[in-house]
Amino acid sequence: MSNYYQRVLPDESETLEVAGRLAAELAGEELIFLRGELGAGKTTFCRGLIRRLGHAGAVKSPTFTLVEPYVLEGGLEVFHFDLYRLGDPSELEYIGIDDYLEGRHLCLVEWPERGEGFLPACDLQVTLELAGDGRRLTIEANSEHGEQIIQRLSR
Ligand SMILES: Nc1ncnc2c1ncn2[C@@H]1O[C@H](COP(=O)(O)OP(=O)(O)OP(=O)(O)O)[C@@H](O)[C@H]1O
Ligand SMILES: [Mg+2]
Repeated sequence: MSNYYQRVLPDESETLEVAGRLAAELAGEELIFLRGELGAGKTTFCRGLIRRLGHAGAVKSPTFTLVEPYVLEGGLEVFHFDLYRLGDPSELEYIGIDDYLEGRHLCLVEWPERGEGFLPACDLQVTLELAGDGRRLTIEANSEHGEQIIQRLSR
């Protein structure tokens, strides 16, 4: 039994598609980290995920706002973070990170390494790497719940 899922994504549409497949397996209270260099496709992945959960509008990069909230049909709340411009991990305390992470929300965090020490362990870690003109996607489980999601995704 493998605790990761890996695929090559030849173009943007594939990133959106696989993110949508992952969205369909979520309970809506996961913490997901997204890693990869600038332009690797992290926001694209979040866009595919948030759209599949029912959001019809734009999914912009929360580069300057740090976090973008979404309230979806059925009351599901999603918080999309981009910590790239965080000056220091301790600033997460000032934006009230604990309030975001507690409770039944889905939290997506781009650049989690910038918040090291102030973020709890995630359920899933999504890594995107450049591979020719496309990307290599790896989704790793980091909790028991995350492992169940990987199993379902791999079927
Ligand atoms: N599988 C793919 N193959 C090729 N290009 C892709 C793929 N997935 C996404 N892209 C493209 O990569 C570019 C950058 O994507 P995106 O903004 O999602 O990156 P990011 O990782 O969020 O960057 P940042 O670190 O700046 O937030 C976009 O032009 C997008 O269309
Ligand atoms: Mg981004």
